Amino acid sequence: MAKTSTTEQDYKNQPDCTDLGHIPGNWGLPVIGHMLPWVKDMRGMLEKHARQYGPVSKVNIMGNKGVMVTGPDVMQEVLLDKNRNFSNEMAYQNTIGKFFEGGILLKDFDDHKIQRRIFQNAFKNEPMRTYVEYMNDIMGSDMDSWKSINNFVLFPHIKKTLLTTAAKIFAGVEPGTPNFHRLYKDYVDMLEGITSLVQIEIPGSKWGKAQHAKRDIFNCFKTLIPERRAKNETDFLTFFSQETKEDGSQFTDDEIVRHMNFLVFAAHDTTSASIINVCYELAKNPAWQERIRQSCQAFKAETGKEALTYDDLDSIPDLENAMLEGQRLHPSVPWAARRTIREMTIEGYRIPAHTLLWLPYFSSNRSEKFWTNPTQFDPDRFSPGRDEHKKHSFQFIPFGGGAHKCIGMHFAKIQVKCFFYQFLQRYKFSVPENYNPWLMMVPMPKPVDGLPLKLERIDGQ
Ligand code: HEM
Repeated sequence: MAKTSTTEQDYKNQPDCTDLGHIPGNWGLPVIGHMLPWVKDMRGMLEKHARQYGPVSKVNIMGNKGVMVTGPDVMQEVLLDKNRNFSNEMAYQNTIGKFFEGGILLKDFDDHKIQRRIFQNAFKNEPMRTYVEYMNDIMGSDMDSWKSINNFVLFPHIKKTLLTTAAKIFAGVEPGTPNFHRLYKDYVDMLEGITSLVQIEIPGSKWGKAQHAKRDIFNCFKTLIPERRAKNETDFLTFFSQETKEDGSQFTDDEIVRHMNFLVFAAHDTTSASIINVCYELAKNPAWQERIRQSCQAFKAETGKEALTYDDLDSIPDLENAMLEGQRLHPSVPWAARRTIREMTIEGYRIPAHTLLWLPYFSSNRSEKFWTNPTQFDPDRFSPGRDEHKKHSFQFIPFGGGAHKCIGMHFAKIQVKCFFYQFLQRYKFSVPENYNPWLMMVPMPKPVDGLPLKLERIDGQ
């Protein structure tokens, strides 16, 4: 990628550049553009664009006209962003920015760096140890209650479990309290509305409910701040309420609620999707399910541990590899966006300043160039010796890369491992042999029916 101009003037006040007649492709249908194929079959759309137009093509998602770029070299160049060429704030302002303005993902350069440094303290080892204990307790008791449920469907249950851990760990909100029920309903409404086709605030519409939910989440967190400023607790809300910036000032209430709003969103839906999709693959691949169960049982026999502790998290490589393989086949965050700050050349095409770039992070996840039998669920491909993910450092980027790389990656891996360690030793789970649901990607990658599972309790409880 060559930089062809260095003009950088007030990039936040410029409209998106849509003067892209020289880029292959078209703008799709009036108003909605490529929204339907994007929602219905994002992977198919990506493959079609690659076949018809090559690695650079026009894309229009609900009027957000930009350029889709693919391939590990381009991902590396854009995400490492050595010359400060790409803005997150401007990229996301018209999509998730309508719900998460002021969240850390939407901050650029020095502002982002300062805030991220503060965030990192909350993810240090000591607080993490406490979080693991909370997670294990909540997950264990939730999954115990699943045995008595007829026609069990995983999605609503796992979402509730992870929202319960998020409410407790992030906001210090206890399960079963009015604030918990309020946040739970709000986050469900918000996620359902985010990709709504009609983005007008009509009461009762998905978009209207989502906007209402956002305001209520802000109010809920705001009312908790005065108490948290005075408390000595381990949750993130207390942390943000007390932490000081480099100039000695505290975060304002407004900054805190915006960080909290994004953090809870970033943490629970991505991880729910990861667990659902690994469960889906393990239900379809019972031999793998049994192998990982046996790895967990062997660890329990050796250590006597009912749940993993923080120090055990790397002790069962099969758990890590299964999670990564789930992300490869069904990425929780399939796409990201950036906006150019100055004109440049990508793959031989001139990309003007202020152009929206759509980045399908999963574009190499099933490429035969990198993976053997790419559609097959095979966690061993991540094992030392095979290391199929190491051919290019940006071929597999489920957690992104560069300055905005997922700050919760370790936290997410902990949650997934803690979940499967307990779940696999309590239950065998299966789907009918001919089960082939639509695997949707938006708003969250998962089987469309939420994954109905037959659960068989195996630990005699
Ligand atoms: C399987 C689970 C997860 C996946 C796949 C995932 C993926 C990602 C990706 C791809 C990005 C970068 C987006 C971009 O480049 O535009 C990101 C950013 C972020 N994630 Fe995650 N995430 C997961 C779980 C979590 C969890 C559990 C947390 C919090 C505890 C979290 C917090 C964040 C935050 C705060 C950012 C923004 C970082 C920044 O802008 O500096 N994520 N995540």
